[in-house]
Amino acid sequence: MIKIAPSFLSADFGDLESEIRKVEEAGVEYIHLDVMDGHFVPNLTFGPFIVDAIRKRTELVLDVHLMMTDPGAYIQPFADAGSDIFTIHAEIEDDFVNLLGKIRDAGMRSGVSIKPATSADVLIPHLEAIDLALVMSVEPGFGGQSFMPEVLPKATALREEIDRRGLETEIEIDGGIGPQNAADVVQAGVRVLVAGSSIFKDGKVKENVAALRAAAAAGMGPPVWN
Ligand code: DX5
Ligand code: ZN
Repeated sequence: MIKIAPSFLSADFGDLESEIRKVEEAGVEYIHLDVMDGHFVPNLTFGPFIVDAIRKRTELVLDVHLMMTDPGAYIQPFADAGSDIFTIHAEIEDDFVNLLGKIRDAGMRSGVSIKPATSADVLIPHLEAIDLALVMSVEPGFGGQSFMPEVLPKATALREEIDRRGLETEIEIDGGIGPQNAADVVQAGVRVLVAGSSIFKDGKVKENVAALRAAAAAGMGPPVWN
């Protein structure tokens, strides 16, 4: 029910193979890969080449978060590299809606992310075309920032609309997530938790994932028996 997506921004890229094995052994569902272009955000990370290297070493779902001004130009290269989810930002200059069909046509799931200041209203009319709605709970660009609880009503608004319309769109949250706020975000309607620093902290990936999952489960409330 709850999916955990370790952000490899906090992983040791000098030892990718062992970082991949660690998250696999911890039983996570997704690997979250942050692509930054130095324009949409000040930071710069990596492109399809690294996604391809990771794809060759794992069957886990590769959840690629494109913090790029022009993600439309990179749909095919990331699909070819083996990305499963291709998440663009709603704040790009082009109309993000025009890219959603192209992402699906390339064989990937379509994701759209909103920055803390962006209203969930930009996504609501297009939910049928969105497989994953990513609510940023920090300003995108860097790991290790503090969680912004004020974004949670956006997750709840999306949850209500997705359920009302009977859609399968997943709601993901990214930024400052750890055991201390996992129950709150799940209660707000989130089902996919991205976490970088809290998962790779002290190299104890298995323990950190277990703690995050236990905290998240508490947000689902007690089981209901019929
Ligand atoms: C930030 C990235 C995040 C980042 C999260 O722009 O989108 O995925 O790695 O890192 P933590 O969990 O440390 O906030
Ligand atoms: Zn991210």
